[in-house]
Amino acid sequence: MADEPQVYLNGRYVPRSEAKLDVEDRGAMFADGVYEVVRYYNGHAFAMGEHVARLRRSLEQIDLPVPADVARLEEIADELVRINAMPDARVYWQVTRGAGPRQHVPATAMTPTVLVMTTRLEPVDFTAPAAMIRLTVAEDQRWARCDIKSLALLPNVLAAMRAHEAGFDEVALQRGGVVTEGSHTTLFMVKDEQLFTHPADKRILPGVTRSLVIDVARKAGITVHERAFTVEQMCNADELIVTGTTTHLAAVVQVDNVVVGSVPPAVGDVTMRLYRAYLDLLAPFYAK
Ligand code: PDD
Repeated sequence: MADEPQVYLNGRYVPRSEAKLDVEDRGAMFADGVYEVVRYYNGHAFAMGEHVARLRRSLEQIDLPVPADVARLEEIADELVRINAMPDARVYWQVTRGAGPRQHVPATAMTPTVLVMTTRLEPVDFTAPAAMIRLTVAEDQRWARCDIKSLALLPNVLAAMRAHEAGFDEVALQRGGVVTEGSHTTLFMVKDEQLFTHPADKRILPGVTRSLVIDVARKAGITVHERAFTVEQMCNADELIVTGTTTHLAAVVQVDNVVVGSVPPAVGDVTMRLYRAYLDLLAPFYAK
């Protein structure tokens, strides 16, 4: 296939259809691995340092020795974006413990599997308003280490699938009535012009966009509380926001059958300010 993108697998750049994973890769057998997603804008990586640091931390937390390729992930990602001619892209890194007989305790000397792929995305449209989305609520059925960017995403996938089937865009996960995060996004609530989000503990992924939005908010003089909120508080919020590497910031205008914010639905003032300030971080990538 002429237009087939290249991927990086275990030290080689190969056309996607030629990249073969061992059937006994522990990523497939046990979800024994971690991943990262980085956004490229006009050929430039965004928040690369933060994503590399989180990947290293995820690897450490699952006792997976950092493979040599990890030191070159930035270079590999740059190279793939260039050879695939995808200046605006989502870059996916995956590191698993490697391939070997299916047994819970891995062999001592395993070679990790390192995979890097790119997906073409549209350039940022700086004239577009923030997206408006609708959320449903579901029980957070994930494990007790959601701070690790583990490949084991079945609870996230099921929650997202069910939300989609019911006509919603994303799902707010809750444990005992407390909102943790979305299936693949961070949640923020605005109440009385102050911003609230779950603390970066083991119950959520410490989102890179989350940190950037907190910084941007504080610089704009908005008080930020890293404090959890309940489903009830979420439904009574003045504004609700979801954030993520590819989502940027989206305004939540409805939670199940409850309208959040104004009628008719509109992007709230604080959301609008934060959305604009976030786009300002991206504008330099497109400057001539
Ligand atoms: N998802 N929470 C969860 C559970 C996530 O999976 C993600 C990212 C986020 C937002 O993190 P960040 O701002 O660093 O993208 C929060 C990625 C993009 C994914 O799984 O595709």
